[in-house]
Amino acid sequence: MNIQEWPGGTFSGQTCYKTKQSNMNKTAKTTFEIHPLLRERWSPRAFSNRMVETDKLFRMLEAARWSPSSSNEQPWRFIIGLKGDETYMKIYDTFVEFNQLWAKTAPVLMLSVGHRMSLKNQGKPNVSYVYDVGQAVAHLTIQAMSDGLFVHQMGGFDKEAAARFFDVPAEFEVLTAIAVGYIGDPEVLHPNLKKMEYAERERRPLDTMMFRTKFGTPASFEL
Ligand SMILES: Cc1cc2nc3c(=O)[nH]c(=O)nc-3n(C[C@H](O)[C@H](O)[C@H](O)COP(=O)(O)O)c2cc1C
Repeated sequence: MNIQEWPGGTFSGQTCYKTKQSNMNKTAKTTFEIHPLLRERWSPRAFSNRMVETDKLFRMLEAARWSPSSSNEQPWRFIIGLKGDETYMKIYDTFVEFNQLWAKTAPVLMLSVGHRMSLKNQGKPNVSYVYDVGQAVAHLTIQAMSDGLFVHQMGGFDKEAAARFFDVPAEFEVLTAIAVGYIGDPEVLHPNLKKMEYAERERRPLDTMMFRTKFGTPASFEL
């Protein structure tokens, strides 16, 4: 498996990498052209055992830090486990069996945590915290991609156990788990997972999510 430069060259002065997997077709089949980082992003289950460099991890978190949020509340927090450390094992232990099957290949496991309460309006809930944490993770994901890394988010884990393991205060909610690493060899996966790893990515058509006059009525644009 080679890592090669994007055919399009560099973005913002940084070299972006694409994994070349001749027998896999994970590239989004887009109707309209989108940025290569978005087109090539997918959620792998087979990661290489190469550790993620610390500077790349910091860059991912920096990208999350600079994402927008309602009233600039920045409700995101992250707990980071590196393979071999106790945090990693604690995070892994909370996973449902299906996720444990594959996530053990990831060199980094993280938890995203959201602050339920507003810091600006003391005592009031922040109604946007889930939305904002999701957006921060999206930013982190694309930053990771630009450094040759892949991200796989998970909801299949015991969030209460995770909160207990890490003494997360009641004002905060553990939201997702996030596996990060370089692409690995799909052949090492459980047979059921292997099939998913090789499968093409699918999406519903654009006109089922894009409206202009009335909700549910496909938008028509003169193209
Ligand atoms: C909030 C969230 C929860 C997810 N939970 C899981 C999970 O528990 N296990 C898993 O294997 N994938 C999980 N995924 C990954 C999705 O299945 C995946 O993003 C989706 O199928 C689209 O595939 P793609 O990311 O490769 O385009 C989750 C993704 C998100 C955003």
